[in-house]
Amino acid sequence: MSLKKYFIRYKWYYVLGILFVTLSSVFSNYQAIVVRKATNEIVYEINQQHFNQDKFFVFLLYLIGLSVLSGVFMFLMRQTIIVSSRHIEYEQKNELYEHFQKMDKQFLKMQSVGDLMNKIGEDVGRVRMFTGPAVMYLVNVIVTLISVISFMLHVSPLLTVAVLLPLPVFSFLIFRLSKKINFLSTHVQEQLSVITSFVQESISSIRLIKIHSKERFFEEKLKNNNDNYSHQFVLLGKTEALFQPLMTMMVGTGIIVTVWLGSILLAQNKIEPGNITEFVIYVYRLTWPFTALGWVSALIQRASASQKRINELLNTQPKIINTNYDTYKIDGHIRFDNVSFEYEESKMMALKNVSFEVVKGEVLGITGKVGSGKSTIFQLLLRFYDVNRGGQILIDNKDIQKHNLYWLRRHMAYVSQDAFLFNDTVLNNIIFPDRETDMQRVIDICIKVEIHDTIMSWPDQYNTMIGEKGINVSGGQRQRIALARALLKNAPILLIDDAFSALDNETEQKIIQNIKEELKNKTVIIIAQKLSVLQSLADKIMYLKEGVVTECGTPYELLKMNGEYRKIYDIQMTKTIIQYL
Ligand SMILES: Nc1ncnc2c1ncn2[C@@H]1O[C@H](COP(=O)(O)OP(=O)(O)OP(=O)(O)O)[C@@H](O)[C@H]1O
Ligand SMILES: [Mg+2]
Repeated sequence: MSLKKYFIRYKWYYVLGILFVTLSSVFSNYQAIVVRKATNEIVYEINQQHFNQDKFFVFLLYLIGLSVLSGVFMFLMRQTIIVSSRHIEYEQKNELYEHFQKMDKQFLKMQSVGDLMNKIGEDVGRVRMFTGPAVMYLVNVIVTLISVISFMLHVSPLLTVAVLLPLPVFSFLIFRLSKKINFLSTHVQEQLSVITSFVQESISSIRLIKIHSKERFFEEKLKNNNDNYSHQFVLLGKTEALFQPLMTMMVGTGIIVTVWLGSILLAQNKIEPGNITEFVIYVYRLTWPFTALGWVSALIQRASASQKRINELLNTQPKIINTNYDTYKIDGHIRFDNVSFEYEESKMMALKNVSFEVVKGEVLGITGKVGSGKSTIFQLLLRFYDVNRGGQILIDNKDIQKHNLYWLRRHMAYVSQDAFLFNDTVLNNIIFPDRETDMQRVIDICIKVEIHDTIMSWPDQYNTMIGEKGINVSGGQRQRIALARALLKNAPILLIDDAFSALDNETEQKIIQNIKEELKNKTVIIIAQKLSVLQSLADKIMYLKEGVVTECGTPYELLKMNGEYRKIYDIQMTKTIIQYL
């Protein structure tokens, strides 16, 4: 269990915590003894027919002093145990986050991002409820039970046994009841989150709902969810209503036994009058552990399920392994040697015997129908996946798997097909993650990719927030910002996945002419559906069909081949001509 190391790390805090709770409990018990003495004194003085107020003032001071001491140690216990649990939570979150960073894409894809966030947040939180409150209350309960019972035994073993006798029955009932309450309240919580996400979803898709006139349907659905929720809530309320009476009965029974048997023992002169008041206080102090037990046991059960899930996550090893930590010069010579690759999740053979070579200073264009395996080539080059059905990828004549993975990625710039942007300012999106970039260079690049003027027209210019919390950017703007980010990285290998698809022909050609200079001396691979991009930029073009390279050559050669490439080219050209007619 990965929690063990944390307990060992914070063992002194826990030892101190246990010491503090023991002291707090003992001081609290001493209050009962003070009350016993005060009662004995009252009875004595009533018999003597005179009353000394000063004496009682001293008792009062004792009681206040003991309360303060007990409270101080309770505070110190929280400071040690709860504070440690917060430290453990923080370290555990970091441990999980670091582990996720190392995981491969396949793993991250299988576990949806939301699920991962849930795991980090909720499970670690539940484990904290164990390392903090559950441990604290458990120690408190045990110490209180032991100390109260030993104080009681000291006064009268017979009375102790009599008071304790009905407790197992009550504790069993209370335990069952708390379990039921916990179960129901978890359900209520779950039902509430179902409603919350339902409402959120229907608000965010309100336009779609209105267009399809589905308001009634959603209203009905919400009503059903609400009915379900209120039904569960009422059930929870009814069950909770049993709790207090049961506790009162337990205390009441204890007090009846104390007074009844106590008075018999008192008549026999076996105890003093003060012992009865003292016992009443003990009975009250005993009720708390019984209330806490059910709650603590639910906390422990939940935490152990969460910790199990966390352990499972931590024990999954990444499939992409790095063994090389050297740093060296990377030229960017890329060679695919009969590479075949299958996505294990979908058993999809995405690439079959693909071979090609790109040298420094060359631009390779890749095109092909949707799903033909174009992006997969980038996934393999970026080592999000490793080649698994034969063949080899060589970078600078060395197997890609023998390279330092992190070093290699540092020498690659990549524009993904979705041109992902963060919820951050435009500037941070472009300079990501290098925070010390020359502003003039950023502007130069943005001018080249034809986005500078647009950015300058935004309210805060380069500091404008984009994404969820800021302005919406269009598909074409998104692609140009992502392109600027990749160009700014100035890496020897540049991979561009369909970053021109949302641009009009004029902007596209302008950008292509502007960035030609930037592409010099780099190894560039561009995936594009629009052949005009490849015709203007590529030295070589590869046509992919169902994972197989069916046509390959210079743009001129491909056109002359009169194959599928030519067919698509002609269709696209006709469209463009019609556009301009
Ligand atoms: N992560 C994945 N898991 C399983 N199968 C995948 C995965 N990514 C792609 N595939 C499958 O592999 C095949 C090739 O996909 P790829 O993304 O390389 O196509 P593409 O040529 O880039 O298509 P597009 O032009 O639509 O971007 C497709 O059939 C796709 O369904
Ligand atoms: Mg693709």
